[in-house]
Amino acid sequence: MKPTFDLTRIMAFFSDLKILYHMLVKRVRGKTHAERMESFYGGQAADYDAFRKRLLHGREEMWRILPRPEQGVWVDFGGGTGANLENLGDDIRSLSKVYIVDLATSLLKVAQQRCEQKGWANVVPTEGDATSFTPEEGAADVVTFSYSLTMIPDWFAAIDNAYRILKPGGSIGVVDFYVSRKYPAEGNRRHGWFARTVWPNWFATDNVFPSHDHLPYLQRRFTTKHLVESRGKIPYVPLLRTPYYIFVGEKPRS
Ligand SMILES: C[S@@+](CC[C@H](N)C(=O)[O-])C[C@H]1O[C@@H](n2cnc3c(N)ncnc32)[C@H](O)[C@@H]1O
Repeated sequence: MKPTFDLTRIMAFFSDLKILYHMLVKRVRGKTHAERMESFYGGQAADYDAFRKRLLHGREEMWRILPRPEQGVWVDFGGGTGANLENLGDDIRSLSKVYIVDLATSLLKVAQQRCEQKGWANVVPTEGDATSFTPEEGAADVVTFSYSLTMIPDWFAAIDNAYRILKPGGSIGVVDFYVSRKYPAEGNRRHGWFARTVWPNWFATDNVFPSHDHLPYLQRRFTTKHLVESRGKIPYVPLLRTPYYIFVGEKPRS
């Protein structure tokens, strides 16, 4: 019997190999944080979305539950290729402006192509830093961080900046890897020694820093509207599940 080759699967496998090379082997270079981001993502921009779909869990769910205020301004910090915006469906057109703010120019190029293909005239891929960016309008109705907070060294400054630019009553959505504190607040999930020790070290090689402080700080600054603490699979790594959370909060009105 002749062997059958599924070309699509073979190409997908080679695309995965390329991503794994960048994640596990290639050294990240650069003096500034922006240079390091571009060094890490430059070679994987074209294959980024397919691999991350299987690694970055909870993104669709978060986008589904976030409010979409009519004529609102949305700032997606560390928005990368802009793929998450597809979860907004046609509602994206009822927003006045969506900023995809990122430091990796190669990912922003993919985002720009996506905007052109989809005809998203109100979406603006913007080179900028989440710790200091302010939208032209001066304030935002919704701010999101999808697997970007763990890559921002000054993450507290990024959360403070999100708080600063959000209108009172505005929404923040964060989905990311994390580990719990050894003694988390009542109502929050507790991770054992293995998770608290292994995951921060595992991800640190890619300059991803799952923290036990991100979620408590978000809960302190914003009113919690929705919280999911769960675990997800890692491609090619059987048995292990990495912890992630989805946080949707509101900036207090007073
Ligand atoms: C893991 S990717 C997530 C991309 C996208 N949000 C997603 O869900 O697929 C993290 C992104 O955060 C960006 N990033 C890291 N630090 C940043 C900063 N200080 N300001 C803006 N973007 C930043 C990176 O360049 C990268 O695109």
